[in-house]
Amino acid sequence: MIEACDSAIIRGAELLRNGKLVVFPTETVYGLGANALDGQAVAGIFEAKGRPQFNPLIVHVSQAKEAEEYVEFSEMAKVAAMHFWPGPLTMILPRKKGCRVSELCSAGLSTLAVRVPAHDIAQKFLKETGVPVAAPSANRSGSISPTLPILAAESLGESVDLILAGGPCTVGLESTVLDLSGKQPVVLRPGAITAEQIEEVLCVPVGYDFGEKIDKPKSPGQLLRHYAPSIPVRLKAVDVEAGEALLAFGSTQFMAMKGGGFAHNLPETAFKNLSEQGDLIEAASNLFAYLHLLDCPEHKAIAVMDIPEQGLGIAMNDRLRRAAKGAGSQKNGLK
Ligand code: TXA
Ligand code: MG
Repeated sequence: MIEACDSAIIRGAELLRNGKLVVFPTETVYGLGANALDGQAVAGIFEAKGRPQFNPLIVHVSQAKEAEEYVEFSEMAKVAAMHFWPGPLTMILPRKKGCRVSELCSAGLSTLAVRVPAHDIAQKFLKETGVPVAAPSANRSGSISPTLPILAAESLGESVDLILAGGPCTVGLESTVLDLSGKQPVVLRPGAITAEQIEEVLCVPVGYDFGEKIDKPKSPGQLLRHYAPSIPVRLKAVDVEAGEALLAFGSTQFMAMKGGGFAHNLPETAFKNLSEQGDLIEAASNLFAYLHLLDCPEHKAIAVMDIPEQGLGIAMNDRLRRAAKGAGSQKNGLK
């Protein structure tokens, strides 16, 4: 932990650019930051938080103009940004085509959460990094969001590379999460900015959806819609059937095709390896991007090799089980 003076901010920004995890203050709560362009760094966030699930993350930038590089701004989003940024508002917007932010930040969804925090140190830090910064609250999964640097340190311990200490957070409550990717604006998580304030500015009704109906949320604002491929997903595959694509993990030397032949001879469009070395961090960083790549109608299904139920493998398996359950149904309309 280090006082967030200019030289500490420069050091933190350099660490973050190089794939390390850096805790920084915002006006709401302390954030656990990683370079959002670096999938392995983003996977490191989930490992450090000990989250058994991949929830999508908020990407922080120092000004709206930078967010425009990654997401589509509707007229409404522009108005909201003008009024509430910098500040405790997070907007969910459609990812732009070719968006370079790791798909793990979106947990496979076609949207991305973006926010421009108002805190002085956060602003300096984000400008200095020069990259979008993915940051959930800086606590281990299951504990409360830290509003003091010492609370982040106690919660995350050795799993972060640097904590920039900047005193207590003034708002002390997480940002309002506003979904502007659908027809009507919807607040997915209440926060410092109220739906009434947003209505006043946007001049349209703003709904609330805390998701109680869809799933049993463990915490307010937990994302309840999940990415599901449009074709079936077959888990713990030990061979590949004709017409299937293979999502591999580890060595595929002995992975056979059912009718004869070896899986590693599949065309590139039907074969992706999450991590040849069996590295769970690398695998997690590739999971959603590879599912998207293999999710095309030419394939009968996606066969997924077994992934160990440990570390990030727990979150990966959770997501794969949901994908297998929801696959082909298109009911969530998120594709
Ligand atoms: O105040 C805050 O928002 C803090 C500071 C660090 O910025 N961050 C924070 O992040 O609270 P986190 O990860 O603890 O909460 C992010 C919330 C989650 O409820 C998540 O489900 C939702 O935002 N979210 C993120 N991306 C989303 C997306 N694409 N669609 C729907 N919800 C999303
Ligand atoms: Mg949180």
